[in-house]
Amino acid sequence: MRTQVGIVGAGPAGLTLAQLLHREGIESVVLEDRSREYVEQRIRAGVLEQGTVDLLVAAGVGDRLRREGLVHHGIELQFDGERHRIPLSDLTGGRTIVIYGQTEVVKDLVRARLEADLPLLFEAADVTVSDLDSERPRISFTHASRAHELECDVIAGCDGFHGVCRPSIPAGVLREYSREYPFGWLGILAAVAPSNDELIYAHHERGFALLSLRSPELCRLYIQCRPDEDLAAWSDERIWAELQLRLGLKGWTLAEGPVLEKGVTGMRSFVVEPMRYGRLFLAGDAAHIVPPTGAKGLNLALHDVRVLAEALVSWYETGSSALLDAYSEASLQRVWRAEHFSWWMTQMLHRSDGGDDFGLKLQLSQLRYVTTSTAAATSLAENYVGLEQV
Ligand code: FAD
Ligand code: PHB
Repeated sequence: MRTQVGIVGAGPAGLTLAQLLHREGIESVVLEDRSREYVEQRIRAGVLEQGTVDLLVAAGVGDRLRREGLVHHGIELQFDGERHRIPLSDLTGGRTIVIYGQTEVVKDLVRARLEADLPLLFEAADVTVSDLDSERPRISFTHASRAHELECDVIAGCDGFHGVCRPSIPAGVLREYSREYPFGWLGILAAVAPSNDELIYAHHERGFALLSLRSPELCRLYIQCRPDEDLAAWSDERIWAELQLRLGLKGWTLAEGPVLEKGVTGMRSFVVEPMRYGRLFLAGDAAHIVPPTGAKGLNLALHDVRVLAEALVSWYETGSSALLDAYSEASLQRVWRAEHFSWWMTQMLHRSDGGDDFGLKLQLSQLRYVTTSTAAATSLAENYVGLEQV
């Protein structure tokens, strides 16, 4: 088997890259180790930046997103028993965010790929990448009990944080930067109308909480927990009670409903540089992770593949590798901006175990500053909706 671009991973990064390349007449094969059902049901992000929406629409997979996505113009920050609105659109010349689950983005991309009858192989096992520093990098894998070898011009490693591509790069090539956080998020999806029109990020002495949503009938809620929190210790009643305490406000009630899904996510910041080795290009979570507080992970993954697709188009059209050579540096500029913003939001809103009162006072001062100073609020807003130029 031969293709132009071998893509490992059918998450948002791999699927979007395949779609962008297809629109430019470049062939690719997408290999995914999980099943279609698994990939389409995996609940993760929910906030799309306007640039992400524009990219998906331009790529021809934005119809349902435009119909069903919920356009938001602001978010709320809650602390000290009060809620404060950050008017995102007013502060950013009218830019918005759109609430549309990652599950839906993935479903739309999978459908587009399969309807166009283009190669997307689920349950591809034993994927390995080799000859990365040659002009003919290869991917070997097993599919439907048969061994295959795929010869490529380039390989895109879009296989997430736990994938095989990044670890296939020889030792000493990549430099890693990381930070672990002493907490995680316990998240639920609940069948109940959201009690607020906009997202609420709540700072609370018991720990952070977030009210988000997926649709007018589906709520997505999170509470800060330990990174290794035992889900078994959290009955639905206990989760709702904790949410009521952390999100509760005089004169406002959080409506409860059946819990459809729950899970614990650890939090880390992680970046590798460069995002390339020979003919292997890393994109999305394969190259970087952000804590979810800034809602940046999915948006960053799609920005990477937009830059990568443009570089590949230029390479195939002109023979010049200038843009491919610039890919890592160009992507990393935005990556580091998002890393900083996500870290900053995280440290402002979470309670650190053993956190001293000095830290708490600094958080409250920072929160008061971003909710009273237009300059500070604008900085938060432009990062949250996604900077146009980074
Ligand atoms: P992924 O979505 O991880 O896709 C990688 C794909 O590669 C997967 O389908 C995987 O099955 C496949 N793969 C892995 N190994 C192999 C292999 N060896 N061979 C073939 N395929 C392979 N971001 C937010 O903004 N908000 C959130 O609430 C949020 N919650 C998250 C919760 C969890 C548990 C995780 C892990 C991430 C969360 N994120 C969140 C981050 C966001 O979902 C990611 O940034 C986004 O999924 C990145 O897309 P990606 O395509 O780069 O990687
Ligand atoms: C979500 O809806 O899942 C969500 C929203 C905002 C975040 C993180 C996750 O910062």
